[in-house]
Amino acid sequence: MYKKLFLASVLIWIVSLGIFAKFFITGSTTPSADSRKTIHLSPSEKDVVLGEMRTVLKSLNGVLKSLGESNFKQASSEAKKAGAGMAVDINPVVMAKLPLEFKKIGMGMHDDFDKFSLDLERGMTEKQALVRMGEITNKCITCHVTYRLE
Ligand code: HEC
Repeated sequence: MYKKLFLASVLIWIVSLGIFAKFFITGSTTPSADSRKTIHLSPSEKDVVLGEMRTVLKSLNGVLKSLGESNFKQASSEAKKAGAGMAVDINPVVMAKLPLEFKKIGMGMHDDFDKFSLDLERGMTEKQALVRMGEITNKCITCHVTYRLE
């Protein structure tokens, strides 16, 4: 009797752990008609994520403009605006709904902006800066071809 109960509880434990692990990796996603993955968020959560996207684009634009004026100090502070600091106040519920891979690419991009900001401050050539921007914008593409929000 006790043995059966014990086995049943172990089984329930393993199944819940499995569900939790699956959710942690895939987030709240389903396949979409355009062969990307749809991440399901509430309308207000979607607004937060899209708001971040617009901030990142604005920061990128700021870096480009500043580089055009050869103002590396300004470019550095524009790049910083898209660094890890901007993602700290994302709600844990939204974090849980985002797939692990999405978070990895996103955090990688924020770290790249922080490193880029530091290097712009320390000194780099315009060509080196362009190469870095090419690498960073490649991460925008990687994520955009993989995920959409709904
Ligand atoms: C970790 C994933 C990820 C990364 C990295 C990422 N994006 Fe996005 N972005 C998305 C998703 C998902 C959407 C929603 C697309 C959809 O639903 O079709 C989006 C939407 C946007 C939008 C539309 C915003 C709006 O108001 O509708 C802009 C602009 C944007 N991204 C810019 C960028 C730029 C610039 C970068 C890189 C510097 C970037 N994103 C990097 C995932 C990402």
